[in-house]
Amino acid sequence: MPEDPRKILVIKNCIMCHSAKLIAQNSMSKDAWQNIILYMQEKHNLRQLPPGDEQKIVSYLSQYFSPKVSHGIDGDLGPRAINPLP
Ligand code: HEC
Repeated sequence: MPEDPRKILVIKNCIMCHSAKLIAQNSMSKDAWQNIILYMQEKHNLRQLPPGDEQKIVSYLSQYFSPKVSHGIDGDLGPRAINPLP
């Protein structure tokens, strides 16, 4: 997962049940990531996230793991955002 101030929120909230890799192998739009979080909450007992944190997680995931992001030919290079935040 790319280094970013928001990464810690994903680490804190999303990898106690599965690895970060399971998350990172997906490419989804912002809406779809939002739905994933709801799905995690309904089906897998993900705790309710503070709204600010949830919004940061969705923005982080949709920035780096979206259909617009190239994941490179070999995974080692990691995903690169086409439009990184300033
Ligand atoms: C309480 C446990 C738990 C937490 C916390 C959790 N998940 Fe999951 N997640 C699961 C389980 C179990 C599966 C695999 C079964 C499934 O896909 O329904 C899964 C699967 C997934 C998948 C793959 C879904 C698919 O259709 O292939 C994604 C993406 C995902 N989680 C993202 C997240 C994100 C993002 C967070 C943090 C906001 C998170 N998870 C937190 C339990 C959890």
